[in-house]
Amino acid sequence: MHNKKYDFGSVLDRRNTCSLKWEFCEQVLGVPEVIPMWVADMDFPAPPEVVEAVVKRAQHGAYGYPFIPRSFWSAIIDWMKVRHNWEIKREWLSRCHGVVPALNICIQTYTAPGDKIIIQSPVYYPFFSAVENNGRRVVRNPLRFENGLWSLDFDDLRKKIDRRTRMLILCSPHNPVGRVWRRQELEELADICRQYDLLIVSDEIHAEHVFRGHRHIPTASLSPEIAARTITLTAPSKAFNIAGLTTSLVIIPNQRLLTLYKTQLENLGLTVNNIFGLVALEAAYTHGAAWLDELVAYLEENMDYARRYFEERIGRIKFLKPEGTYLALLDCRDLGLPQKELNEFFLKKARIYFDEGPIFGPELEGFERMNLACSRKTLAEALSRIEKAVREI
Ligand SMILES: Cc1ncc(COP(=O)(O)O)c(C=O)c1O
Repeated sequence: MHNKKYDFGSVLDRRNTCSLKWEFCEQVLGVPEVIPMWVADMDFPAPPEVVEAVVKRAQHGAYGYPFIPRSFWSAIIDWMKVRHNWEIKREWLSRCHGVVPALNICIQTYTAPGDKIIIQSPVYYPFFSAVENNGRRVVRNPLRFENGLWSLDFDDLRKKIDRRTRMLILCSPHNPVGRVWRRQELEELADICRQYDLLIVSDEIHAEHVFRGHRHIPTASLSPEIAARTITLTAPSKAFNIAGLTTSLVIIPNQRLLTLYKTQLENLGLTVNNIFGLVALEAAYTHGAAWLDELVAYLEENMDYARRYFEERIGRIKFLKPEGTYLALLDCRDLGLPQKELNEFFLKKARIYFDEGPIFGPELEGFERMNLACSRKTLAEALSRIEKAVREI
């Protein structure tokens, strides 16, 4: 292993920096001294090369309307080719102010009120609200959970599709179950979508955090035929901890679908992106690879550290190591606490704030989602709090 260049071990004090993750427990829930391990952002600063680019642009002083330079688009094209072996073209690209806004726009653009949209629960909960808030109908195609492994249920999917079903929203890699879908799984899924003429919206925001033995495959890279019905939503925001700069990418090879997307973006008056988000995105994709490789190795060490700790010292909670993402599920069903008490237990007894399993779907009753994107020191403190609290049950 080459010498480590970046520091993920130091604890960054994020209090009083307008951080949702860090202010929420005290200011909204009213519980002080909590270790926040909920919303998906990281306690590490962005790569130094990204920070430098943003600082340099900030020091310039003039913040008028941005023009997106050619170098911005080529940074994206190069990144996708080198990191994901996916050749994309400039004319497939558009952008948005986040993956969730783009998802809402896709639903508005490509479906009509009353249409049905497939979601593979348990899943990132804004998928549900994006469908429902726009007056469309959620059709759940739950994942299967057998022998500790989550998988897609193709038979159920085929049964759920009818003439009003227009779209499938795929989470790849999957939050919160941490699956990095294999080629064969994606091909079978995509084939069903082709057969029943469904559009695929593929949310690939977690593509960069994938652990040893796994590889992210962009859905649209499967074949030109699948690319023609796939809208890929992604961003460097999870990978490089720049979600607060609200800049995301929309990749649509099908030019008819792309024109419809751009028209809707204009109808909503959302044609201008934040200048710092543009600068950070380009810097991340241009200079961030080495930092990202070290980060992913550090995150996997965190996962292995936590897994061992749960196994050896907190036997009653099962830690499910993900294949990708910095989010892991804790199977707490052996504690025998109803969900409400389980949440209270972690918040008030252990003083850790997790995302509660059922917000992702009823399949996760008795589970919690833990965010491990923090220094090992913070993680160790959190685990010892959990150990102590579990002993006292
Ligand atoms: C699957 C998934 N999509 C989208 C987002 C959020 O994207 P954005 O902040 O760009 O709207 C998250 C954040 O946790 C996520 O997990």
